[in-house]
Amino acid sequence: PQLVWKYGYHVEIHEVQTEDGYLLDLYRIPGRRAASGQPPLRPYRNAPVFLMHSLLSSCADWVLMGPGRGLAYLLADSGYDVWMGNARGTRYSRKHIRLNPNRSSKFWQFTWHEIGLYDVPAMIDHVLNVTGYQRLHYVGFSQGTMVFFVMLSKRPEYNGKVIDIQAISPSVYMYRLKGRLVSSIVKHADQLVYGLRTSGWNEILPRSQYLASLAQIGCASTNVTFCRELLYDVAGKNPPQVDDKLLRVFLGHFPAGASLRQLHHFSQIIRTGRFAEYGRGAEQRESLSYRDPLPPLYNLSRALLPVVVYYGLNDHVVNYRDALQLADEVPNLAAVYQIEDPLFTHSDFILAKNAARMLNTKVLWEIERYDQNS
Ligand SMILES: *[C@@H]1O[C@H](CO)[C@@H](O)[C@H](O)[C@H]1NC(C)=O
Ligand SMILES: *[C@@H]1O[C@H](CO)[C@@H](O)[C@H](O)[C@H]1NC(C)=O
Ligand SMILES: *[C@@H]1O[C@H](CO)[C@@H](O)[C@H](O)[C@H]1NC(C)=O
Ligand SMILES: *[C@@H]1O[C@H](CO)[C@@H](O)[C@H](O)[C@H]1NC(C)=O
Repeated sequence: PQLVWKYGYHVEIHEVQTEDGYLLDLYRIPGRRAASGQPPLRPYRNAPVFLMHSLLSSCADWVLMGPGRGLAYLLADSGYDVWMGNARGTRYSRKHIRLNPNRSSKFWQFTWHEIGLYDVPAMIDHVLNVTGYQRLHYVGFSQGTMVFFVMLSKRPEYNGKVIDIQAISPSVYMYRLKGRLVSSIVKHADQLVYGLRTSGWNEILPRSQYLASLAQIGCASTNVTFCRELLYDVAGKNPPQVDDKLLRVFLGHFPAGASLRQLHHFSQIIRTGRFAEYGRGAEQRESLSYRDPLPPLYNLSRALLPVVVYYGLNDHVVNYRDALQLADEVPNLAAVYQIEDPLFTHSDFILAKNAARMLNTKVLWEIERYDQNS
């Protein structure tokens, strides 16, 4: 919130309770402050926009680039009421009405399945309730898109509450993943998860001052190559678009935490290529047995509303062919954007110097189009 306030925008924090008792912080940018020297843009002429972040990240995804570039600011400047969700288990939503995340392993028994089933619907309902609108625009990045498809598969009635989804590097299919580090973790995920769980780990990479400072020091200068190589391996390599200053700010906000089970679930869909529910078999034993029944698939054909897909050719996390496979399978594909920069990576969607031109102005234009039609 300080980041947003500093730039002359209002910011509100709303706490939303899910059906299963998690408390989530939902951030709203309702427009510019009068003191900013620019006219505040209210009342809105548009439906609200809901933005959902990626794995291990938070609503920081949308504001780090600052005014004129970050999607949240571009939307606010165009007269939209901007809402940014935070999934359970992240820095801003590490709360529950009964369970203590520091002590209770039960708090951490969720994957992105529950984020799609409970968190996203609760936050959408809150936005619609507060604003009085019937429907909103949805923008997701990576995990932020897959939780949307989980929601529509399990609760298709939410088709009626959303106008369109802008699916930025949607991580529904990920089996053509390129990163060597992530691939080798995925390969050994079952043993790793088993080992961590039996030693009492349920939370992964929580927000910590220590980790953040370490990462900032390690990645700040160009000749400390380790961090950059790590980023290049995990997300893809596009050196001209790495903005050192922004990367340093980003590392003050990332990682923001996730559950062990959430990562395990990711490893399952990467390995199997099936967009399916969590396979619980592996929790009791070290690996899944061939006798375990296949967990049920999410039903993509229940996503009836217009889907706009954005993908990068050099994205190591969501390979362009994985993005195109999703585009092929949704019943109402409205448009597909291949980012023009052929080296555009997974992290470039929120960090690249050219992200505003390559991505955000297009997302804005698409939302505007649906807004006029609704
Ligand atoms: C959990 O631990 C953190 C850091 O030690 C602390 O700030 C927070 O208040 C604790 N939460 C609860 C619910 O006890
Ligand atoms: C909607 O808002 C009203 C009053 O502001 C509140 O009483 C009600 O519980 C809210 N409903 C939901 C689903 O959040
Ligand atoms: C690393 O950068 C510093 C200053 O940015 C410079 O003085 C030093 O020579 C560089 N070291 C290498 C190995 O490039
Ligand atoms: C998926 O959903 C559609 C629409 O609700 C339904 O017709 C179809 O039978 C479902 N497929 C499966 C495999 O459940």
